[in-house]
Amino acid sequence: DFSNETSILNQFILEMRDVSIQKDSMRFRRNVERVGEILCYEMSKTLEYNSKVIKTPLGEKTVNAPTSEIVLCSILRAGIPLHHGILNYFDSVENAFISAYRYHPNGGDDFEVNVKYLAAPSIEGKTLILADPMLATGKTLENVLKALKTHGIPEQIHIISIIGAKPGIELAAKIFPKNTHLWIAAVDNALNERGYIVPGLGDAGDLCYG
Ligand code: PRP
Repeated sequence: DFSNETSILNQFILEMRDVSIQKDSMRFRRNVERVGEILCYEMSKTLEYNSKVIKTPLGEKTVNAPTSEIVLCSILRAGIPLHHGILNYFDSVENAFISAYRYHPNGGDDFEVNVKYLAAPSIEGKTLILADPMLATGKTLENVLKALKTHGIPEQIHIISIIGAKPGIELAAKIFPKNTHLWIAAVDNALNERGYIVPGLGDAGDLCYG
């Protein structure tokens, strides 16, 4: 929970939503990255720190250093620039990647999510960051959570997302364990009949890499 109504974060989100600006895919990717930087900075305030004494050229100083063992897991495709934004601040975390795509079993608007690819270290007892720019229905996160179970039980989970729709946020609150924190830059109310966030920004994967 953090306040951002009057921060520069709004400019980045505005550029990502605006149809006349979002077509510039280099700017779009960079904005995803910049929002990742800001959200993980806010998240960093909730991590664990140990104080230690370091030497400067002129003396000694007691400073706080983070101690959490972090695994950063991004959901392909649109999670890639968000991943890089988070790595800009967290230099030496372990990394995981997972793929998720929607498929329409009946050919209609109803869809399921398929996880095909997962490369992850053990997450047992660690701090897990899940990075995906869009949280729409929450089905992707639900399937990602299931798939990651084979890699251990994390001590803390942080979900970093740029735009979250209320139904997806509600599902995440229901299915994720209590030690989960959600870091979302903007909340939109609705989903359309195809499960896309309205007003949202469109398809983040296509805007990054389409
Ligand atoms: C988008 C987005 C999330 C997912 C959110 O990915 O990046 O992963 O949809 O929707 P949900 O909460 O309803 O599951 P998409 O499936 O379009 O894949 P892409 O990143 O490859 O475009």
